Amino acid sequence: MGLMRTLIMCLVLALACPLAAPAADAKALYARCAGCHGADGGKTALGVGKPLKGMSAQEVARYLQGYKAKAIGGPQKAIMEAQAALLSDQDIQALAALISQF
Ligand code: HEC
Repeated sequence: MGLMRTLIMCLVLALACPLAAPAADAKALYARCAGCHGADGGKTALGVGKPLKGMSAQEVARYLQGYKAKAIGGPQKAIMEAQAALLSDQDIQALAALISQF
C-alpha cells in the first residue's frame, strides 16, 4: 500500500543517516526530510501537516524547536519528534534558512 510503503521508506532513510552528523550542511541535512516533505518542500508529509514550501525561517525553526521539546504537533508528531531529536540548534537554524528559500 502506498502510504505504508512511503512511511517505511522514510524510516529506512532516516535511520540510514549518521546519528551525530556535524552541524550545518543544510542540504545534506534536508536529504533526511525530502522523502516525506518533498525535494522542494512541496509535499504534504504523509498526508498530514502543511507543505514546508512558503514557510519563513522563523516558522520552520519554531516547529522544529517545538517538536524537539515535544511541545507541539498534530496526530503524527511522534515522527517529527524523532527527527527533531537528531538536530542541534545549529542544524535547525541551517535547515530553517534553507527551507525558507524553497
Ligand atoms: C518519516 C517522514 C518525515 C520525515 C523524514 C520528516 N518529516 Fe517533517 N513531518 C512529517 C509529518 C507526518 C509531519 C506532521 C506531524 C504532526 O502531525 O505534527 C511533519 C511536520 C513537519 C513540520 C511542521 C509543519 C507541518 O507540516 O505540519 C516541519 C517544519 C517539518 N516537519 C520539518 C521537517 C524537517 C526539517 C525534516 C528533516 C530534518 C523532517 N520534517 C523530516 C513527516 C516527516
